[in-house]
This record gives sequence, structure tokens and C-alpha cells, in this order.
Amino acid sequence: MTTPIAAIQSVRLDDDNDVLVLLDQTLLPNEKVFLQLSTVEEVWDAIYHLKVRGAPAIGIAAAYGIYLGVKQVKADTYVELAVEFEKIKHYLASSRPTAVNLFWALKRMEDRLKQEADKSIAEIKQALKEEAETIREEDEQVCLAIGEHALSLLKPGWGLLTHCNAGTIATAKYGTALAPIYLGQERDYHFSVYADETRPLLQGARLTAWELQEAGVDVTLICDNMASIVMKEGKVQAVLVGCDRVAANGDTANKIGTSGLAVLAKHYGIPFYVCAPLSTIDLECASGDDIPIELRKSEEVSTQWYEKSMAPANVKVYNPAFDVTDHELITAIVTEKGIAYAPFKKSLAELMGKEG
Ligand code: MRU
Repeated sequence: MTTPIAAIQSVRLDDDNDVLVLLDQTLLPNEKVFLQLSTVEEVWDAIYHLKVRGAPAIGIAAAYGIYLGVKQVKADTYVELAVEFEKIKHYLASSRPTAVNLFWALKRMEDRLKQEADKSIAEIKQALKEEAETIREEDEQVCLAIGEHALSLLKPGWGLLTHCNAGTIATAKYGTALAPIYLGQERDYHFSVYADETRPLLQGARLTAWELQEAGVDVTLICDNMASIVMKEGKVQAVLVGCDRVAANGDTANKIGTSGLAVLAKHYGIPFYVCAPLSTIDLECASGDDIPIELRKSEEVSTQWYEKSMAPANVKVYNPAFDVTDHELITAIVTEKGIAYAPFKKSLAELMGKEG
């Protein structure tokens, strides 16, 4: 992909200095600051405070976090190292609860640790570094494949609506829900994209509108409560969103506000597509009821982005960061291995190589 946004790598290891380089997403679009992290505590903090965010990017950062943490461990035997690995894994797992990619990446690092059990400590540390690199590299290819599959569902000239940010900075590169938009941009599809601002943390306004504008895509920013009018006015032919966890029955957790969009899309007869890598599918969650939903601080709703408080002091605030979209509202789930349609229990299990 040659779009300028593809040049940005929001999460990567600087090999010369052996530090994790992260684009601080809390400062966008006003400042483009790359952080250099060398400890597991810094990685935890970056995930917790959304300096790195988006399900795949969180998983990649956590994998590098394991490497940076294990690198500091002084151990003489595999058993000693494995004990410390477990502590680092649990610590990183406590940073955010909803995106299963975090736990998927930690498990993958643990599997690699176990595979290397008969190697020297130095070799194990090197293997963990390689595994984190592989996770990042694979994610680029996964996103491109999702982009191709999703593009096959879209037609030139369509209006598209997206929520939150499932773009290049939420992944190793290219994004999930935004990947078909970037591919379409290269192939003269001339999409018009409506980006929901995505209250309360404004990932749509700060990140998606910025990314798409940088790539030269025709993007229009709307407040979340304007989605209905743009759909009613016939401006939207498909909704594309990313996802933090897909349950076995096809229920999907994504940024708060996503399920409302799916209800609207059903009302207006607009297809609703969820784009997600297989690493976001969690067959151990039978339905969306099993997906843990992160609750975040009240300040995010009332004061964080404003000079003055926008709500009376001490008013009660409810701030779930994600919601679950019922599978009945989803037209298709687009993965790197292909497109899953209802009944999702069967199609997702097949894509995951499990019995339906
Ligand atoms: O709280 P965030 O900003 O990490 O939430 C991110 C989302 O909800 C994304 O849509 C999702 O992680 C998919 S990113 C490809």
C-alpha cells in the first residue's frame, strides 16, 4: 500500500536501542510524539492510559512488554525465568480487560517461552524478542487481507460510516475497518467516509479523521448523535467498525456507541460489517454476556477534553468504554481468512479451525 499513512508505524521495536517506540495517541492530532519505552511498567502505563490503543496494537505492545520485562530478569535456570515471566504476564494482563488481543498475545509469548525451555537464558530472551517481532509483522499482513476481503463487499462511490478508530495506528499497519478504505483510495473507489467523533475520548475525531485526512480520503466528521440523520439522508451505504472481542455466537464488543449504530443500520437497511483479525475471536466467550466491559473514570465524560467542567461537580457518571453488538444486527464479520456470515457460531468456528 502506498498511501502516506502506511508509512506510519505506531508500535515497533527500535532494534539499535532495544526500546519500544510508540506513537502517543493521546496527543494526536495536535502533536506527533514518539515515546521510547524500555520497561514493562512503562508499557503497562502506555496501555492503561491509551497512549497505545486499538485491540491489535495493544496486543503487539504487550508482546514487546513481555520481552522488555523478561530482558531485565536475572535468572540462572528456565524455572526461575518462567516464574518471573508469569508475574510479568499477569501484570500486563491487568492493564485493560476488554480487547482479547492482549491476552492472545500474552498466551502466544508464553507458548514460545515453553517451546524454548531447553535453551539458554540468553537464547530464550532472544526468542521472545523474535516472537514479538513476528506478532507485529503478521498483523500487517492480516490487516491487508482483511482490507481485501472487506473491499469486496463495497462499491465505488459509496458513503461509509465508521466509529472509533480501527485504523493504521490501532494495528501494526493499515487497520482493520479502515484497511478497505485505504485500499479503495489506491484503486479510485472515491469513498465518502463519515467518522463518528466517538465520545467520550474522541478517537473518531482525533484519530480517524486525522488518519483519513492524511491519506487524502474524503472524510466528514460528525457527532455521534448525527449518525441517524446521515443514514436517513441516504449518505451511508455501509457501516464498517473494528472490534475488541468476538464471542462464539458472533456478538461483538467494540467502542461504546457501536451497538447503537448497528440498531440504526438495521432500521435503515444498511449493511453493518465488523472487521477483526482471528486474534480478536474468543470462542471461550459463548456470547457477549461473557465479555468483560471496561469501566473508565468519570472525568473522561465530564471534564477531560474541556477547559471547564461540562457537568455539575460530583454528578454521578457511568462510563463503560465498550458495548456489545448482538449478532442479529451484524451483516458479516470480516477476518483475514474470509468473511463470516450467520449462523456465526458455525462460520466463526470453521474460520478458527474448530468444529461448528
Ligand atoms: O478504547 P480503545 O480506543 O482502545 O477502543 C478501540 C476500539 O474500540 C477499536 O474499534 C477496536 O479496538 C478495533 S482496533 C482495530
